[in-house]
Amino acid sequence: MISSHTTGKIKSQASITGLGVYVPERVLSNHDLEKMVETSDEWITQRTGFRERRIAGEEQYTSDLCIEAIKDMIQRYQVTIQDVDLIIVATTTPDYPFPTVACMVQAHFGLHAGAIDISAACAGFVYGLQMANGMISAGLHKKVLVIGAETLSKVTDYTDRSTCILFGDGAGCVLVEFDEEGSFITTQCGSVGEEGHHLYRTGLRNVIEGEKMLGNGNIYQNGREIYKWAVGTLPGEISSWMEKAEMTMEDVDWFVPHSANLRMIEAICKRIPYPLEQTLFSGEFYGNTSSATIPLAMEIGIREGKIQSGDKLLLYGFGGGLVYAGALIQWKLD
Ligand code: ACO
Repeated sequence: MISSHTTGKIKSQASITGLGVYVPERVLSNHDLEKMVETSDEWITQRTGFRERRIAGEEQYTSDLCIEAIKDMIQRYQVTIQDVDLIIVATTTPDYPFPTVACMVQAHFGLHAGAIDISAACAGFVYGLQMANGMISAGLHKKVLVIGAETLSKVTDYTDRSTCILFGDGAGCVLVEFDEEGSFITTQCGSVGEEGHHLYRTGLRNVIEGEKMLGNGNIYQNGREIYKWAVGTLPGEISSWMEKAEMTMEDVDWFVPHSANLRMIEAICKRIPYPLEQTLFSGEFYGNTSSATIPLAMEIGIREGKIQSGDKLLLYGFGGGLVYAGALIQWKLD
């Protein structure tokens, strides 16, 4: 089912001026998982491309990961955040429903800013970027912090081998600032709520579309259905979006899809088509960190000298909801 909103080329007056990441110290490898559930390193690597994921400490929550990612960004790019006027945190695992993680970040750094958490699962970071670009370009804000951060280990059932091999914890943030020559070229977002029952965490309610869900607050998914939806729908969505924006995949230097599963990304790339070698993946050592996979993959691209100033990046998040969101941006940092 196709139900997206796609823009052509947009007028942007915002650009990314810094990026930072953080992952917790504890490593959970495929071999560790072999001791916890009936699985094997070979099965996990073959089906997902994941080798390791990071796990937050017992007393370490999403806001702690956000704070460390921001400190990393300040150190890497020598940016100042004291004049940030809006904080957007994309997360499905906030420390509390409220106060928001964004408020906890604001209080930690003593900022004078608006603060909001947004919930769009693995598409959250790209939705946050779209909001930051829109708000800055409309003159509502000048400097916005966008963070994708998760502690999925706290909502993962480590007796369920179909999910516990996938998820990990991590955070990534960017600073988006006013820039006359903005670098957001075109965006897309969409949703298929009708398929939401294939991937969920119950909250106050445990019935979706008349069907009773397993309701203890952990993540549940029908992996095969999600796989089919992502591979069957997203390549067409991306191609028709590029056409509307009068761009082609040849204009894209780096494709940065949500790192849900390397096999899924391979299948998506084959169908678009797009060379896998120009795709960035953060899952090998971090697993699926939901809203954090895209900034974590961008950091890997920067660290490995792949992303260069002037490159065009196609960021594409998708996941629970079901939702998806894309942004084609020009990278301006050295
Ligand atoms: N180790 C060994 N065997 C396993 C494991 C495991 N960890 N998990 C399942 N199996 C078995 C199953 O029991 C089944 O056995 P059977 O054939 O005897 O019944 C067999 O492997 C195949 O199971 P499937 O679930 O059909 O395996 P599939 O090939 O679909 O791979 C996977 C599972 C990796 C989860 C895949 O479906 C997938 O990646 N789906 C997308 C997941 C995703 O991206 N989710 C988004 C979440 S992000 C968010 O929004 C929070």
